[in-house]
Amino acid sequence: MERTAVGIILNGVTGRMGYRQHLVRSLLAIREQGGLPARDGSRIWPELTLVGRNEAKLAEIAARHGLTSYTTDLDAALADDSHQIYFDAQVTAQREKAVRAAIDAGMHVYTEKPLAEGLTGSLELGRLAAAKGIKNGVVQDKLFLPGLRKLKRLVDGGFFGRILSVRGEFGYWVFEGDWQDAQRPSWNYRAEDGGGITAQINSSWTVRVYRDELVEFQVDGTHGSAVAGLRECRIQHRGATPMPVWNPDLPLTENFRGQWQSVPDNEDFDNGFKVQWEAFLRHVVDDEPFPWDFLAGARGVQLAEASLLSAREGRRVEIENITL
Ligand SMILES: NC(=O)c1ccc[n+]([C@@H]2O[C@H](COP(=O)([O-])OP(=O)(O)OC[C@H]3O[C@@H](n4cnc5c(N)ncnc54)[C@H](O)[C@@H]3O)[C@@H](O)[C@H]2O)c1
Repeated sequence: MERTAVGIILNGVTGRMGYRQHLVRSLLAIREQGGLPARDGSRIWPELTLVGRNEAKLAEIAARHGLTSYTTDLDAALADDSHQIYFDAQVTAQREKAVRAAIDAGMHVYTEKPLAEGLTGSLELGRLAAAKGIKNGVVQDKLFLPGLRKLKRLVDGGFFGRILSVRGEFGYWVFEGDWQDAQRPSWNYRAEDGGGITAQINSSWTVRVYRDELVEFQVDGTHGSAVAGLRECRIQHRGATPMPVWNPDLPLTENFRGQWQSVPDNEDFDNGFKVQWEAFLRHVVDDEPFPWDFLAGARGVQLAEASLLSAREGRRVEIENITL
């Protein structure tokens, strides 16, 4: 079948996200499935160029996956008109500069989150992208997770009645790297290197897990409640809600977790990063809608900044409606 080749520059491919989620589980997986159907009957086919700082590492990854195109020269890759998309999974602090260069070169840009280190820079990238007329997007993989898609199904189906509250609980213990290996890169902790963590929802690398999944969102509504994790979603309807009685003098007899029902899959859930890549490729090739653009990415950065300000100053911070 005829192929519509799309040249993609992958920068930061030696990193955790760039390699595992974007190269292996998304773009190579799309090639393994024979590409994506395009509207004209051809197959959208990602042609990949790996970019990074260490040539030996790039060569090793390329060889491992039967790829031939890699370079340490980003400017040369951006100047090569066989490329249409620039993708960035570098450390956050390096992103803004590289995304600007890609926009200048007229590339469509898809990038890991956060879009930039601050709201000002994020909006600036959004404006530059709009002025240049390039297509743009920011990874929002969590929206495509099975647990959250089941939660959305419940919202769309009117399960909750009036929603009264939404709570998120995320985090796990990240080792310090001395006694046992750290399982995340150390820059995650250094604000000056683009790390840090936001606690708009409870989110922490210094918590030991007492939950069923690493992230859980509880939505409570007048008609029912749901707890969604990465894959599972459990519900309790008001008609099946027990009436616990407060009495710490007696041992607990209720099995609270046992009082919830599982929401069935009812569909196949593909890898969330891959699903979003497919949507971006269709956006570039066939102009399909893609709502997770730079402005949406900037809203995420805005929320993170407001949360940090709120924590620093001990006060509520209003979220203004931002536009480009
Ligand atoms: N979507 C998600 O759920 C998710 C999860 C984790 C991280 N992220 C984001 O993905 C990005 C990468 O995170 P990661 O966990 O893969 O980090 P990582 O440290 O494993 O990888 C970072 C990559 O950037 C490169 N790099 C490091 N320092 C650099 C420098 N000074 N100049 C140029 N390149 C440099 C590294 O070589 C590597 O390829 C970050 O922006 C992070 O916020 C997203």
